Amino acid sequence: MALETDFIVIGSGVAGLRASIELASSGARVSVLTKDKASESNTEYAQGGVAVVLAEDDNAELHEGDTLIAGAGLCDEKAVETLVTEGTKYIRELIDWGTEFDREGGNLLMGQEAAHSRRRILHAHGDSTGAEFVRSLIARAGLEKTILLTPFANTESLLVHNGRCVGVRFLDPILRAPREIFAKAVVMCTGGAGQLYQHTTNPPVATGDGMAMAYFAGAEMADMEFVQFHPTALSLENAPRFLLTEAMRGEGGQLKNKYGERFMPRYDERMELAPRDIVSRSIVAEMRRTGTREVYLDMTSMSEDFLKHRFPKIYDTCKLFGLNIATDLLPVSPASHYCMGGIRTDLWGRSSLPGLYAAGEVTCTGVHGANRLASNSLLEGLVFGARAGKAAAEDNSGLQVSDLKFQPPIPGSKNREPGISTAVKKRIKRVMWERVGIIRDRESLRRALKEFDQISSANLSTSSRNFVTLAKLVATAALWREESRGGHYRTDFPEQRDEFRIHSLQQFDQPITGYSVG
Ligand code: FAD
Ligand code: SIN
Repeated sequence: MALETDFIVIGSGVAGLRASIELASSGARVSVLTKDKASESNTEYAQGGVAVVLAEDDNAELHEGDTLIAGAGLCDEKAVETLVTEGTKYIRELIDWGTEFDREGGNLLMGQEAAHSRRRILHAHGDSTGAEFVRSLIARAGLEKTILLTPFANTESLLVHNGRCVGVRFLDPILRAPREIFAKAVVMCTGGAGQLYQHTTNPPVATGDGMAMAYFAGAEMADMEFVQFHPTALSLENAPRFLLTEAMRGEGGQLKNKYGERFMPRYDERMELAPRDIVSRSIVAEMRRTGTREVYLDMTSMSEDFLKHRFPKIYDTCKLFGLNIATDLLPVSPASHYCMGGIRTDLWGRSSLPGLYAAGEVTCTGVHGANRLASNSLLEGLVFGARAGKAAAEDNSGLQVSDLKFQPPIPGSKNREPGISTAVKKRIKRVMWERVGIIRDRESLRRALKEFDQISSANLSTSSRNFVTLAKLVATAALWREESRGGHYRTDFPEQRDEFRIHSLQQFDQPITGYSVG
């Protein structure tokens, strides 16, 4: 039997939790469906911290300016202004809710990260900022009696009736079968799609499902070509690409090649603190020049005591792999990290599909443009999660769920395999890494799309179809954008071109096009 509630939130990272709290504050029933255990998300693994204007030598204009520079001409200025000005309010609220940021003598500690003109990064338990966000937001959501969180509930598709999103189809973890749930509105907070790539800092849940679901439901998708590759993921054979936070370079860490030479000065005057896309491409160039598969992060100028205290999780994790961060050079290479593109929304999380709202990494609000400034996304999840929740509650207060219900058609695919097929996933991840990765060109993108078409022609399960569709969206947009800008680099078009100072736009069954920057 189909279920009903007032609002559905998909995902329990920072955006989903903040949106749920906002929705529940209006007294509404909120069903949070999340794919794994409640804490499993990109948010949980965030290390460096959250950028926010709180220091005396800082102000909103400076943070806005840094964000716009990183975004390389594609940020929506109003969205950035909203992020940096409202960000301070929402961080204060989070502190009131019990989030423990690191302090010294009672004062908040502010870290430095690349491309920030001020020390403005709050962090928690050294390098476990995201886990502290999740802990405190889950505790706060737990105080709201109308929030019902269902873990291990993988959503696969949106229910659309009369041009409106009215619910979702998910795999019921108890019945172990697909089930429908109807609501006045759905808030999509499923995060990013780092798992599209062979090497990624993202956990396994980050397969971009929400983007594909929204696309199939008819929502507009923007800027899918812009993927951020983090320069410094631990690079060891048969080990996951564990992130070595940018804050390590912020504290003075240096990048060295296999000869022990510091190479960043040859590539950019900002050296290790140049924007991520520049550092990542410099590392690739240096690896090619020296014929190696990694470079090294050198933290040995700092004392073991300091490093243990400042980066406790990284210290312990590297120890498990036999590395002492105070004495050893740490092998690193770039890995996919963040999606700048996603479901196109307005400043209140409204997508182009009535009834569908979205917040966090799954969206393209315009705050990041072509490249996200480090530590801006936890902030984005908070600010736009709250705004999407508020708008969904207010816009739909007059609706009755019973008026929205309908008999949804049986899913087209006969393949009922749960999740993404391992073989499909492996092949797509490899093709994405090799052909749609840090460095792209027309030929590599065309060949990738050909492979994806071939994979799509098989009888795929809904989850596998979502995954390959997402890969196609990224490759199609990357082929369309004949220039290099921010996170997107084409060897056949290495310059930024004025005619491409537009966002890419993709919608189901329609050719890719562009729209102007706001
Ligand atoms: P997520 O936190 O990823 O949450 C998505 C949720 O959706 C999860 O609960 C997931 O299980 C659920 N979900 C996914 N698919 C489905 C489905 N089909 N059905 C149901 N549920 C689903 N940003 C910063 O600002 N500062 C940092 O220091 C920082 N460090 C980072 C370090 C790492 C290793 C990584 C990977 C990212 C980091 N980021 C950082 C980026 C930041 O963590 C994310 O962009 C942000 O947390 C995204 O929040 P979100 O709520 O949008 O998505
Ligand atoms: C990091 O700590 O390096 C990641 C920060 C981010 O992705 O914003």
